Amino acid sequence: MKKILLSVLALVMLAGCATTPTTPETTPTPSVQPTAPADAETGATSDATTSASIVVDELVKEYTPKGFTDAEVEKVLFVVGDPRHNSVTWDLANTAMAYFEEKGMEVELRDLYAMNFNPVLSVENFYYAKDGAGEPTTEIKAEQELVKAADHIIFVYPNWHDSEIAIVKGYKEEVFAKKFAYQDSESGLEGLLKDKSIYTIMNCGYLGGGRGWIGDGIIDTETWDKYMNAFDVFDQDTAAFWGVTSYGRYVNDRTPANTSENYAEELKELEDNLITHLDKVYFSKN
Ligand SMILES: Cc1cc2nc3c(=O)[nH]c(=O)nc-3n(C[C@H](O)[C@H](O)[C@H](O)COP(=O)(O)O)c2cc1C
Repeated sequence: MKKILLSVLALVMLAGCATTPTTPETTPTPSVQPTAPADAETGATSDATTSASIVVDELVKEYTPKGFTDAEVEKVLFVVGDPRHNSVTWDLANTAMAYFEEKGMEVELRDLYAMNFNPVLSVENFYYAKDGAGEPTTEIKAEQELVKAADHIIFVYPNWHDSEIAIVKGYKEEVFAKKFAYQDSESGLEGLLKDKSIYTIMNCGYLGGGRGWIGDGIIDTETWDKYMNAFDVFDQDTAAFWGVTSYGRYVNDRTPANTSENYAEELKELEDNLITHLDKVYFSKN
């Protein structure tokens, strides 16, 4: 009898195992199932999990700008931080770089991930960044020469936790050091990078839905303007610090979804919208 009971118990336990789900019930299920091809580098498949869109191979436009020369033409320095070259952020960077060259300006690109730029301000370089004490490293000096040569500086990155990606933040901390970008004066801090402009191109996932700058919200215009005005406070403050003019930002919160049937058209619409914005900011001011 005991043997029979034990056999029944074993059978019940086996049956239980067979129906026990292998994944815990608490594992979140993406609301949209990925249908796009997997990103070879990251394995990401859909904006359902990361909100990052993947530009399919045939639509990726790699663009290598010609760089700065001694020619007397306006110069635009692009500082780009984004790990994936098939991202929407890079699509925006490439679109903008091509546009400036088309307009006769010179473009120099600093692809911070490709350069393996170290964004962590080390203890050795701390007093150089903070007080301008001593000399910059060779790498930082080279970046400063490019900043000096530039008329316009454009930062391009995805929004990570409501601000710039760390690699771009680190670039600012290390390159725009005291006595290079600003100095003490009798009336307080004085910006040293006069006659230059700064501008930002930022791709986002959750800012209320909009495309452009203040006043360009589409879905939740109140939330959009709240964020854009907040970014404007930081942009203006940084500009005042460095002595430059802030030309504002182009912010995209309408990334084409990987699942979109009209992906190519939507991407083109986004690129055209960026060009309209650049045209307004840089070329049709008067
Ligand atoms: C670590 C991390 C933090 C993020 N934080 C924000 C955020 O605070 N606000 C936001 O709108 N999007 C946020 N996102 C979404 C990204 O902005 C979005 O994935 C990105 O713009 C996609 O651009 P890409 O296709 O060029 O990579 C975050 C993404 C990551 C990976």
